Amino acid sequence: MNLVRLQGPTDFEGWRRAARSLRLRGVEPNAVVWAVAGEGDLFAEPAGVEDGPPAGPGFRTPRAFVDLAEEVICHRDGERFDLLYRLLWRFEREQTLMLDITDPDVARAREMAKNVSRASHKMKAFVRFRRIEGLEPEAFAAWFEPAHFVVERTSGFFVRRFTGMLFSILTPDLCCHWDGEALSFSAGVSRDQAPADDVLEDYWRTYYASIFNPARLKVKAMQAEMPKRYWRNLPEARLIPDLIATAGERTAAMVASAPTQPARHAIKAARAAARDAPFGEGQPRSLEELVAGVDGCRRCDLWKDATQGVPGEGAALARLMFVGEQPGDQEDLAGRPFVGPAGQVFNQALEKAGVPREETYVTNAVKHFKHELRGKRRIHKTPVTPEIVACRWWLDSERRLIRPRVIVALGATAAQAVFGRATPIKANRGRAIQLDDQAQGVVTYHPSFLLRVPDARAKAEGFAALVEDLALAWKLAA
Ligand code: URA
Repeated sequence: MNLVRLQGPTDFEGWRRAARSLRLRGVEPNAVVWAVAGEGDLFAEPAGVEDGPPAGPGFRTPRAFVDLAEEVICHRDGERFDLLYRLLWRFEREQTLMLDITDPDVARAREMAKNVSRASHKMKAFVRFRRIEGLEPEAFAAWFEPAHFVVERTSGFFVRRFTGMLFSILTPDLCCHWDGEALSFSAGVSRDQAPADDVLEDYWRTYYASIFNPARLKVKAMQAEMPKRYWRNLPEARLIPDLIATAGERTAAMVASAPTQPARHAIKAARAAARDAPFGEGQPRSLEELVAGVDGCRRCDLWKDATQGVPGEGAALARLMFVGEQPGDQEDLAGRPFVGPAGQVFNQALEKAGVPREETYVTNAVKHFKHELRGKRRIHKTPVTPEIVACRWWLDSERRLIRPRVIVALGATAAQAVFGRATPIKANRGRAIQLDDQAQGVVTYHPSFLLRVPDARAKAEGFAALVEDLALAWKLAA
């Protein structure tokens, strides 16, 4: 029996070296035992793999496998080392193995990689920093309990996102520390070593309560997105039971105060057309697939500094689609479009124009938040053409799935994405422009442009123009 003891639970290099040596010596998977140093005392002796003489020719490992293995190794399942070595072993005879997603080993490895990527995503979304009392310069710490061993692979995200802030993320597995210049790691700690409540928590609670929309409450989806295991470390979680309990009442109040609109039933033909439309290879076939795809998108580099991809949301077969520029700071955190300050202007303009937002679909030309850090603030940066072009794949998918009659481009970036060329707003607003996919386009001002107009009169005129264009679009879509 060959015993391999790795230096830590995510010691990919150690696994790789050992696996290579074992494989070259023709050691079968069932003749290897994998262990992690310090985990249990089953094997008191230190163990490595001897470099004996190779029993056969060398071998090449497909890149796809290495990428997958780097993720799988971060899974908590103790079987992972064995599974990966078994896959490596099988490559010799089954060279297209990685393509066979029905193979139980491949399927399990892919599932594990997905779990790891999800755990990393949850860490990005649910880490909440608290100020450490009495430290100068200011420093922050967060307590987090990751589902898998994702601290190392996710720490770069926090460094990019909070470069100017000194912080530690404490977990039971491993802690990471950023001192403004270097990232370091130390052994895991217990919950009582993390700081308790501070004012940041009130900030989070206020923010969360303000973005919570009772009319869109889907308890199951919410629990899937924010599983209960994370609640106890989230300051806002304490609000959730009450927000859920009062959602019905608050929705009824919203409905009572909303302008009444006659129900419109123009979706039958669109539904049939959407079903029959040919899809390009790899394009999502449903909005659910699209949502998952947007979050995992690597078509450009913007994902690296964003919390998550923000897909569109709204009626699945909406007659009217709105396209903004890109998620802002609050959209990036909430994972939903137009929920921040620009969203408020947008909602006011919709209300004034008599357009029920819930009957439309709202999305952005670019799905990840592009920004730069100034101190602790994340300042919006306008996406450049290659980013708009890369993300158009998603916008086109949304257009094909939703099949709106009318698409409204909010601002210049959206106009470039929707019309495929620069379309100046002042010269083109207030009229329908024919698009290639049978839909009609309307271009108008971006709500956040109005937030920046300093002159009150110009602001009011801009808002009136926006309302006029939204009303026109709604009429065209009828
Ligand atoms: N601005 C946009 O263009 N989109 C959003 O979702 C929010 C602000």
